[in-house]
Amino acid sequence: MKINGKNYRTIWHQWLTQNGAKNKALIVEYINQNKLPHQLLTEQAQSYQQIIHAISSMQVRGAPLIGASGAYGMALACAENPSDEALKQAAHELISARPTAVNLSWAVQRILQALLTQAESERFEYAVELCSQLCDEDVALNQAIGQHGLSLIQSLAKSKPFQPVHILTHCNAGWLATVDWGTALAPIYAAYDAGIDIHVWVDETRPRNQGAALTAWELAQHGVAHTVICDNAGGHLMQHGQVDMVIVGADRVSRHGDVCNKIGTYLKALAAHAHQIPFYAAVPSPTIDWQVEQPLKQIPIEMRSPDEVRWVSGIDRDGKLNSVNIMPEASPALNPAFDVTPAHLVTGIITERGVFAPSQLAAGYRESA
Ligand code: MRU
Repeated sequence: MKINGKNYRTIWHQWLTQNGAKNKALIVEYINQNKLPHQLLTEQAQSYQQIIHAISSMQVRGAPLIGASGAYGMALACAENPSDEALKQAAHELISARPTAVNLSWAVQRILQALLTQAESERFEYAVELCSQLCDEDVALNQAIGQHGLSLIQSLAKSKPFQPVHILTHCNAGWLATVDWGTALAPIYAAYDAGIDIHVWVDETRPRNQGAALTAWELAQHGVAHTVICDNAGGHLMQHGQVDMVIVGADRVSRHGDVCNKIGTYLKALAAHAHQIPFYAAVPSPTIDWQVEQPLKQIPIEMRSPDEVRWVSGIDRDGKLNSVNIMPEASPALNPAFDVTPAHLVTGIITERGVFAPSQLAAGYRESA
């Protein structure tokens, strides 16, 4: 991603050298997404507890990025205490930071299991190497998703020459939700870079407004034409022929292609189905939970604070970051953060290995290895 012309990833590390090269401290840096789009602020974490805070307060968010952050949490835990017991405890705490995106437990377990095969004295440097590898892999998976999704957009563009392709997306599944490139937005960036006339309808995505705050911001940084709509506008636009395709990301996908993603995705899929508009989820393999057969029973849906429904954040007319309460004090609020779109509403899953119909996900994924 390029922000104001400068290359960034969402998370990276650096070494702080103390008392000569022998005493190196690991510093994990990341973009604090709670300040965007108004402030571009980076934070530093030097303990795994700080990473847990960053994940649960959503300074870092998006399934692949919380996976990468969890991995770095393990590296920081190693610096503190590389014993088996301490690492297992840190892994447990990191995985508990957010329950729905399977990428978090996938990444933390991957690092933990690899570290347990090493001598304690070797673990710290090895953990950092594994984190860099995991981040590079995330970028490569997303780039491949971009290329597979590009073919779908190219076909649509051919079917309506001299008119823009209108794509609707929900939440933020772009650069900011991954280490780089994004999942749902990777095909959009690839299409834009290939010169396709493309326009994105950006769902604001209440209650935390990841669409309005983050997706709109990164599309603007890349130069992609887009319009922010309130969450209730999608059905109307579909009814009027103004949506050619929906692409969303996912936090967990079942082996049969059911898609768990940001709350509100299910409603968009229902509306798309009613209007025969193709609905795709862009999903790197660490987001597929092959153990899940019955998504409604097996996928834990994060319940977040009702305050996120009650309070809305932004900048006021004086340019100051502020929050305002939009509800009667006595009214209760409920805040489920994700929902499940059943496979029969999903046209295809765009993975790094190709695009598969939900019913073909397991077989197609295996055969394309
Ligand atoms: O609660 P968030 O902001 O972490 O939710 C993010 C999403 O729902 C994304 O669509 C999903 O993680 C896919 S990210 C590539």
